[in-house]
Amino acid sequence: MLGTRLLYKECPGSHLLLFSLCMRREQTALLKRVVASLLGLLKPAQIPAAAMNQPPQHALDDPNVYHWICQLTYGPQKEQALLELGRKREQFDDLAPVLWSSFGVMTSLLNEIISVYPMLQPALLSNQLSNRVCNALVLLQCVASHSDTKHLFLQAHIPLFLFPFLNTTSRQRTFEYLRLTSLGVIGALVKNDSQDVIGFLLRTDIVPLCLRIMESSSELSKTVAIFILQKILLDDIGLQYICATMERFYAVTNVLKDMVEQLTLHAPPGRLLKHIIRCYLRLSDDLEARRLLKLVLPEKLRDNTFTEVLRDDVGSKRCLAQLLLTLNEDTQQQQPQQQQPQFPATTAN
Ligand code: TRP
Repeated sequence: MLGTRLLYKECPGSHLLLFSLCMRREQTALLKRVVASLLGLLKPAQIPAAAMNQPPQHALDDPNVYHWICQLTYGPQKEQALLELGRKREQFDDLAPVLWSSFGVMTSLLNEIISVYPMLQPALLSNQLSNRVCNALVLLQCVASHSDTKHLFLQAHIPLFLFPFLNTTSRQRTFEYLRLTSLGVIGALVKNDSQDVIGFLLRTDIVPLCLRIMESSSELSKTVAIFILQKILLDDIGLQYICATMERFYAVTNVLKDMVEQLTLHAPPGRLLKHIIRCYLRLSDDLEARRLLKLVLPEKLRDNTFTEVLRDDVGSKRCLAQLLLTLNEDTQQQQPQQQQPQFPATTAN
């Protein structure tokens, strides 16, 4: 604070810059945390009291929560209410049901989201606006991840409101944040794999949207997008859906292949490789997909390129070994019947 004041005194214009840098750092930290908690990456010290067997705190007992909920619904401090409630989301185990059942809160959150739709152009979306709507999305993620509210959230079709954000392609930070936080909401929904969530998502364009994000967004967004794809594949109906047409199968495997190619460019590959391997392994459970995988599996997954990187990751090493074994075994079994068609016959749309 002192630093800010000093700077301001010496150079009046600079406090704005400093303020926006601090905001950006805070926002980035918030989003990283949201993703980390989604992917189960938090260290014990970072896990909130509510999750650590300490007596959980109740949002309803906290007069501040009441205050900020009123502000969120009626104003005038809506923006601050979004921020304050977002900061408290891990402190309480009942914030999600409280948000869901408080009169006007969901409407207010949806209103925040809808009002940004006309601004989804790089020249129009300011940092402040992007941060504001990201804070609203963080609260939606809270509702999407709680077992009492998840299904209500789904039944109300609220995830559909996020698609205009997922559908953006600008690489500007403001848009990256919007995509990442929206993916966070979908990620929270699929996290404890329930069939109805996957069933709902398969009726949307989530797969092609995730694929596009995996191709061209930031590393964090790619990680959440492939996490969602992997959850869809792990579901039986999800696997069937992806393997139902050649177009879908190739859309997925082409993107996975490109990701593998990009991985070696910048080491270490981090979490992406783990998810990529598991997606391929799961695809190999479908017999037709298995046959095609033998043709399209990237060479770098066969030739020990990643041995060193995977040294400490026993799980992924095992998955990769199993994948190669499955593809190999199948080849050996098929050798006597060379005339088999290379492509499955059942690929009609
Ligand atoms: N409507 C398209 C389809 O059903 C959606 C889609 C486009 C898609 N690309 C995809 C689905 C890739 C799965 C994978 O095919």
